[in-house]
Amino acid sequence: MKKPLLLGVLLAVASLAQAQQRTAFEPGNVWPDNHGTHLNAHGAGALYDHGRYYLFGEHKIAGRAGNSAQVGVHCYSSKDLYNWQDEGIALAVAPAGSGSEIEKGCVLERPKVVFNKKTGQYVMWFHLELKGQGYAAARTAVAVSSKATGPYRYVRSYRPGAGQWPLGYQEGWKQPQPGEAALKWWTPEWRTAVAQGLFVRRDFDKGQMARDMTIFVDDDGKAYHVASSEENLTLHLAELTDDYQGFTGKWATIAPAGHNEAPALCKRGGKYYLITSGCTGWAPNAARSFVASFIWGPWQQLGNPATGADADSTYHSQSTYILPVAGKKDAFIFMADRWTPSNPIDGGYIWLPLSFEGDQPRLRWADRWTLGVFDQPKSGAAQ
Ligand code: GAL
Repeated sequence: MKKPLLLGVLLAVASLAQAQQRTAFEPGNVWPDNHGTHLNAHGAGALYDHGRYYLFGEHKIAGRAGNSAQVGVHCYSSKDLYNWQDEGIALAVAPAGSGSEIEKGCVLERPKVVFNKKTGQYVMWFHLELKGQGYAAARTAVAVSSKATGPYRYVRSYRPGAGQWPLGYQEGWKQPQPGEAALKWWTPEWRTAVAQGLFVRRDFDKGQMARDMTIFVDDDGKAYHVASSEENLTLHLAELTDDYQGFTGKWATIAPAGHNEAPALCKRGGKYYLITSGCTGWAPNAARSFVASFIWGPWQQLGNPATGADADSTYHSQSTYILPVAGKKDAFIFMADRWTPSNPIDGGYIWLPLSFEGDQPRLRWADRWTLGVFDQPKSGAAQ
């Protein structure tokens, strides 16, 4: 009697699991993992490695305390991008009171993992704010692992660019300008001063601020760190060392005084595309886009990539990553977060196909869509 009963139960569970197989993206909806729990990977990045995708994001907990790191970086894996298997915590915060830079209660945001072919190591970068200092530390940090899913070992944090001027920086901007200390923030004169290196000079010795960030690996294997710097006024693009764990010292500004956050970068047809947000904290705003023929620029600002209803709030979300779909030419998924700071664990995920009209990246809302959209020549529109 026992055996058939057990078999029956197993079959029922299997068919339930089958029924729960997802076959499409449903932006903004609850997105259950293999345990039926909503994905907990906010500010995420994704990696494709040996036939599997890995998703890494901020593990949030319920309540306002969840806006700081209480657990660490959560990892999931998937073969099809719709169904995600829980791989647990890839990078754990250190115990409170341990004095570690990543101790419980720090701010650990926007983790991005890349694989380094030379060292065979997986390298995770993230925005780090030291515990008890709000967002003042403005550091970027690195952790490594020999396995995609971790555990990652914390290496160190940086203020990038210390003692190095950016490419194209004018000789005359190296010295303080008369009256700059008295300039009132947010005035046109102050913005001009920012564009002419006000904060680059200020932070020259200790290194430049690094908040919202992403990592991009180019076709030639060179990796770049892009971060919101200079009090979030200017993006900094910095070259990583061959092992992807440090900075070469070569860096450039993008959109000086343009006030961009949430950078996400991709390459298509030999050109580089950047999508960012404006700076309104957890509240969504209209995305921006940029194109460049060379990664070091010049970067040309384009328009808001989003179209249709709620384009002015990027469909109530903020960019976090652009994921190239493996095996499909010029197929990119725009990944964004719907933040819910009063209960961060509830945050939603907006994944949409990214299409292009000439050079202009385009986003269109879809309640439900599949990777099939990328097989329709030139359409790029959601099904
Ligand atoms: C957002 C940023 C998030 C987080 C938040 C804190 O602008 O993109 O990653 O830092 O501010 O207020």
